[in-house]
Amino acid sequence: MNMQVKPIQRGLSEPRVKETLARLHKAARGDALVFLRGLPDALAAKARGKSLFDGFEPHMKNAFIQISHGAGEAIYNTARAINAKRIVEFGTSFGVSTIYLACAVRDNGGGKVIGSELEPTKVAAARDNINAAGLSAYVEIREGDAMKTLADVEAPVDLVLLDGWKDLYMPLLQLLTPKLRCGSAVFADNINTFRKTLRPYVTHMRDPQNGFVTTTLSTGSGLEYSVYVGSEN
Ligand SMILES: C[S@@+](CC[C@H](N)C(=O)[O-])C[C@H]1O[C@@H](n2cnc3c(N)ncnc32)[C@H](O)[C@@H]1O
Repeated sequence: MNMQVKPIQRGLSEPRVKETLARLHKAARGDALVFLRGLPDALAAKARGKSLFDGFEPHMKNAFIQISHGAGEAIYNTARAINAKRIVEFGTSFGVSTIYLACAVRDNGGGKVIGSELEPTKVAAARDNINAAGLSAYVEIREGDAMKTLADVEAPVDLVLLDGWKDLYMPLLQLLTPKLRCGSAVFADNINTFRKTLRPYVTHMRDPQNGFVTTTLSTGSGLEYSVYVGSEN
């Protein structure tokens, strides 16, 4: 058999993308200090009957809390496999995950990643980082509450990454499901860290009535990988 293999022209190892991701993953090691500084507030919140996260949250504007490199590669590969052109992201932070997504969109021949981020300083930093990776043409970051900023996203959506605060995974899934095309992928990060909060999300994904097939990947802190097969288009 004489099969011609097409070499990959760009991909995640293209120098600007690779160097930017390496720099950001390294900088994200500083998150450990942010969590350490937030620990007294987290413990105080717990003592008041709230969650540890409630105490950590005010400290999070300085934290990357980015997806792992392994998760980024898995999401990039999937976006290439399904030729994703329109990708929606809940929780852009400093733009690490957005770079994996935008790189796939670029390598698929063009399209848009529609990101969302509450914190204005993070939006500005993400734009700088995405620019450094040479991917600005493929990204639009919407500043503000994703429940509002993502409400008018156009169909069809090829891929969704849910990685903002966990109480909004379900409402955002419900907002975006009508826009999903058949065969689209929905990724949700931190399934194992926020097991209790995300149980309704995982239960929803596992119920065949809802149109998804799903599995939890063990990369990072648990990445729910769901494929929407519940529509004709
Ligand atoms: C875990 S971080 C995202 C990390 C990013 N996906 C990455 O891999 O680099 C979660 C982000 O979601 C943002 N966020 C939380 N709630 C949000 C909301 N309602 N709308 C938009 N962004 C939100 C937070 O400000 C935070 O920066």
